Amino acid sequence: MSLKELVETARAMVDNNKGLLAMDESTPTCNKRFAPLGIPQTPETRRAYREWIVTTPGLSEFISGAILYDETIRQHLGDGTPFAEALSNAGIIPGIKVDAGAKPMAGHPGEKITEGLDGLRDRLAEYSLMGARFAKWRAVIAVAEGLPSRGCIEANAHALARYAALCQEAGLIPIVEPEVLMDGDHTLERCRAVTEETLHSVFHQLYGQGVALEGMILKPNMVVPGLGCPRQEPVEEVADTTVQCLLRVVPAAVGGIAFLSGGQPAELASARLSAMNARFRHRLPWPLTFSFARAIQQSALEIWKGEERNVPAAQQTLFSRARDNRDARRGEYRMAV
Ligand code: G3H
Repeated sequence: MSLKELVETARAMVDNNKGLLAMDESTPTCNKRFAPLGIPQTPETRRAYREWIVTTPGLSEFISGAILYDETIRQHLGDGTPFAEALSNAGIIPGIKVDAGAKPMAGHPGEKITEGLDGLRDRLAEYSLMGARFAKWRAVIAVAEGLPSRGCIEANAHALARYAALCQEAGLIPIVEPEVLMDGDHTLERCRAVTEETLHSVFHQLYGQGVALEGMILKPNMVVPGLGCPRQEPVEEVADTTVQCLLRVVPAAVGGIAFLSGGQPAELASARLSAMNARFRHRLPWPLTFSFARAIQQSALEIWKGEERNVPAAQQTLFSRARDNRDARRGEYRMAV
């Protein structure tokens, strides 16, 4: 695939004030979301969950692309349509999570390295044949006393860059996701410093691996204080700090930035994205949008509870959360007080 085609796909993923739906929870993570709601943790319930999500009427008004998990891309809707085809038919670009998860990093207590590079070229070719047009790889960076280590940041950045190069070789857009975690009591300033160092290392490695920045999407965390930090800055301060950090380290050529929600309250994630767009929209070199999982799906999942009769109400909630985030993308979302 030519660079021009990659750039066109990347643009389509962030165009028209739309964003991405991350419905790519691994089986253990999806089961963890189901467990407190008493939803059976089986391949069939996970399939049924993903079916009502992708068949939500009108979802493509706000969602440009959806990230699937390996189990889901191999499953079908009740009428026999494979998930990737169902998304394409609905006007939503199908994508696929391709990392094999974050595992404890040798010699680095408390830190993780994302695995999955071995055999990735073949897996990407297979996913491409199944209809995927973009991919996702998530690295996690923990913040604590003495963490993150330089070794953890560099190893994860290197893996992200090697993954991204393989994706572009296969004609898939890489979503590059280095997530600085919210767990802990660190301050906003500490998150800013760690995010800046991480992104700096990621772009250094992407350059080293020859990744075309126009043909990738960055999926970063917002710069936020740790969940346990007593001082939680107002929405505008989080927005300003996040944008300032990104402007310092993300090259203007990058195709787009789509934030993860990372466990923020859903409405707060939307309000923060909205403030960034309202305050900086005309001064940014890249579109700022969303690639949320929990901040779009969680409230709808809590309504569904695994019951067929709750599907219409769950779909309505999913639809309105997606619309809220489209509004945030436009800088027009206001959190109810
Ligand atoms: O990799 C993480 C997901 O794609 C984003 O999930 O919005 O719940 O953080 P989240």
